[in-house]
Amino acid sequence: MKEGQRKLKTLDRVLSKAGAGSRTEARSWIGGGRVRVNGKLIQTPDHWVDLGRDKVTLDGKPVVSAQRRYILLYKPKGYLATYRDPQGRPTIYSLIPEVGQFVGTVGRLDLNTSGLLLLTNDNDLAEAITNPEHELPKTYLVKASTLLSGEQLDQLAQGVELSDGLTRPGIVKRLRDSGKYTFLELTITEGRNRQVRRMIEHVGSKVLKLVRTSIGPLTLEGLTIGQWRELTSDEVKILKKACSRPRRQR
Ligand code: URA
Repeated sequence: MKEGQRKLKTLDRVLSKAGAGSRTEARSWIGGGRVRVNGKLIQTPDHWVDLGRDKVTLDGKPVVSAQRRYILLYKPKGYLATYRDPQGRPTIYSLIPEVGQFVGTVGRLDLNTSGLLLLTNDNDLAEAITNPEHELPKTYLVKASTLLSGEQLDQLAQGVELSDGLTRPGIVKRLRDSGKYTFLELTITEGRNRQVRRMIEHVGSKVLKLVRTSIGPLTLEGLTIGQWRELTSDEVKILKKACSRPRRQR
């Protein structure tokens, strides 16, 4: 996360915002030696705390802020978008240890899909983003295992019949044909399980590489693979607006 995006707050404010008590109480706990930051005893209430990475404890128990967190991660392939894997494979949570608070994934990306993954503890926004009725566009970069004809791309754009029903029309853009492969951009407004892979299979090809490049107004710009950042408050507002009403009623 960039320096300017860090959320710095004084220690007494962190404790009171987390609902532990008033600022006056917090100051007395701090002065009384009951508070530690990253394991270190801190007795000055004005000590700056970085909410993105510092761990605060009161009497040895973590102080969990009720603050809303919105994390945008550039997921690499080979990481599971689940909290724990019984088979011990790496999960995306190993990439965001500094967040210091539990944030759930907003939708999923397959193990071998890379790209934009949003994580938050704001369940209302997570629901609004994943609700297919809100038709929030998600864009994917696809490398298909074959050259795709104009008709195949048209089929994808019009919607294809999958085992769980007809997909909505999407936006398809041929990026380039290279040797035996077609590279395309596919924008869909649903988020069914393995939807893009199944759509490409339906038209007789296979996905060799899949990257989610955007969700609504959010893109991967500025992030390298494996990196994450916190959304700005403006981005959160824009995102909320983008998925607040079903598109057809606008
Ligand atoms: N569609 C897929 O097939 N896989 C993903 O990870 C996301 C969308």
